Parts: sequence; structure tokens; C-alpha cells
Amino acid sequence: MSTRSSHSELAKIAQAMVAKGRGILAADESTGTIGKRFESIGVQNSEENRRAYRDMLFSAKGVGEYISGVILYDETLRQKSADGTPFPKLLASQGVIPGIKVDTGAKDMALCPGETVTEGLDGLAARCAEYVKLGARFAKWRAVITIGRDIPSASCVWANAHALARYAAICQANGLVPIVEPEVLMDGDHTIDRCEEVTEWTLNAVFDSLYNLRVKPEEMVLKPSMVISGKSCKSQAGVAEVAERTIAVLKRTVPSAVPGIAFLSGGQSDALSTAHLDAMNRLGSLPWAVTFSYGRGLQAPALKAWGGAVANVASAQKVLVHRARMNGLAATGQYRADLESKAA
Ligand code: 13P
Repeated sequence: MSTRSSHSELAKIAQAMVAKGRGILAADESTGTIGKRFESIGVQNSEENRRAYRDMLFSAKGVGEYISGVILYDETLRQKSADGTPFPKLLASQGVIPGIKVDTGAKDMALCPGETVTEGLDGLAARCAEYVKLGARFAKWRAVITIGRDIPSASCVWANAHALARYAAICQANGLVPIVEPEVLMDGDHTIDRCEEVTEWTLNAVFDSLYNLRVKPEEMVLKPSMVISGKSCKSQAGVAEVAERTIAVLKRTVPSAVPGIAFLSGGQSDALSTAHLDAMNRLGSLPWAVTFSYGRGLQAPALKAWGGAVANVASAQKVLVHRARMNGLAATGQYRADLESKAA
């Protein structure tokens, strides 16, 4: 085989997912999770409302300028726009790569109270093959690490790292670029020091497992959480500190052969998640593209503006494109807070 792995088809998709000034929209909420989002705006969690909401997001004019890919949920991958166009086709027409969440959720981990391990490996190869046929080009799997008293345990860190690596290997063998997402939760009163320690441990375990299971770093995207103070920690680290510590940990743990790092927003406010990303990209030249793969960080204002009403679709789309543009600027270190008030 003469093809070097950085020139493979999957490596090209991975590079396109983190192309300069663009990032990923995570719209892969499970039926339960989207139900919680809908509840906050008083909208019923019906299949048609879920379809209409995603249709609003995906058909927003100009969204492809800042969004390289969208992560879908199984149901969404099979749904269609109001004019009958399947969502993967609609996204492709916007220059956006369709992706798919393939894990089946974080479940209580046996013998590890308060901790979870992510499931979904059984039958995954066959599901990947079907998803490729439906138009997906990349996948996502989210592992959850909780910080608390005496946790995370080594059992939890290694079980999740192993599952992430098994998932990533199965994806690469079946034509999908794996987004490898180890999320260290920001819930709790822990300090940023503790978050840094746990994030570094987790990422080392993840890359060790990926190597052991032969996963090619050129053909994946890492989706980590930021190194940040616990949500209820009394002393909150500022934007510059979060950016510096996050990049320091990533430099210690992530091979430069990985084309890009696309952060989750994890419950940070939309403006703060943009400011953190921008500050990281102002730290000088980095070994990988550093961009976003936000769910709430991109969708929260658009969800509110939509409120379930057809009459609000156009204004909600404007709000979404604005947030996407702000994050696109942050992905190249060109965001300025005063651009927020100049919203369309
Ligand atoms: P948040 O940005 O809302 O954390 O969602 C990203 C995601 O895909 C979580 O798995």
C-alpha cells in the first residue's frame, strides 16, 4: 500500500471537518435530551417537532460558511426537509458533511458507584456500514468522566478509554471518521487544578488505548472538554487561564498527527465558549486546528428564538448563523466581543 495515511479518504474528511474558520454543529441530541431542550421553550417532544427544529437549523442560509459538519442522531439521519429532501442531502448541498452519533449512551458502571461507561459497541460495524449508505461520513462517541469525591476511578478512566478506542477502530475500518469525545464534566465544586489533572490523565489513557488498538491519528478528530473550574467552584478561572491550561494539557497529550481538536461547550454559556476558543487560537501557532463542536453553545439562542413557531424560523436561522460566525472567527483567533452587538 503506497497511500500514506494523511492522504487517505478518511484523513481528507477529517481535515475538512476542521478546515480553517469552520467547526461542527452537534445536533445529535437523543430523543430524551432534545425533550429537555424543548421543555425549556414549552414545545412538545413529537417526531414532527424534532424534524421541524432540525429543518430550521440545517436549511439556514449561509450556515455552511462556518459549519463544516453536523452530528445527527439516528432518527434525524433518516428524516427529511419540508420539501422532501433527506437531511444528509440537504446538508451536503450546503457544503456541510453529515455525521452520526453511534454510542447508545453513558450507563451506570458496574462496581463503580457514581460513574458511567458508554455503551454501543455490539453490532457497531454493521451500523456503521448502514450509516455510510445513508450519507454519513463521520461518527461520534461520547465518554463521560465525572469529578467528585474519590472519583474518577482508574477503572472508569480506562474502561471509557478502551471503549472509545474500540469504537474508533471499528469506525475507521468501516469508512467513518471517528470523533473521539472524552468529556470531563464541569459539574461540581472542584478547582481548575483538579480539572487539569483529570483531563491530562484521561487524554493520556485515551491516546494510549487508541495506539494499542491501531487507530490512525490522521483519521480522527478529538473532541475534548476544556480545562475549566468546576461549575460551583468558588474561585472561577478567567478566560486567559482556561485557554493556557487547556492548550498546555493538549500539547502534552495529543499527537500532532491528529488534524484537529473540536471542543464541546459542556454547559458553558454561548459567549464564554466562544471567548475561550478565541483565546486559545490567539496563543500562537498550534500543532492542530483548534475549533468547535458545540451543541448548546451554538443552538441555545436559536432554540429560544424559534420557540416552536413557523413564523420564527427566519429569525432563529439568523441567530444560528450569527453564533456560527462568531465561533468561526474564534476558530482563527479573530473574534471580538463587540461583534456580538452588531448581530444581524
Ligand atoms: P455541548 O456543546 O452542548 O456540550 O454538546 C456537545 C456534544 O456533542 C456533547 O456530546
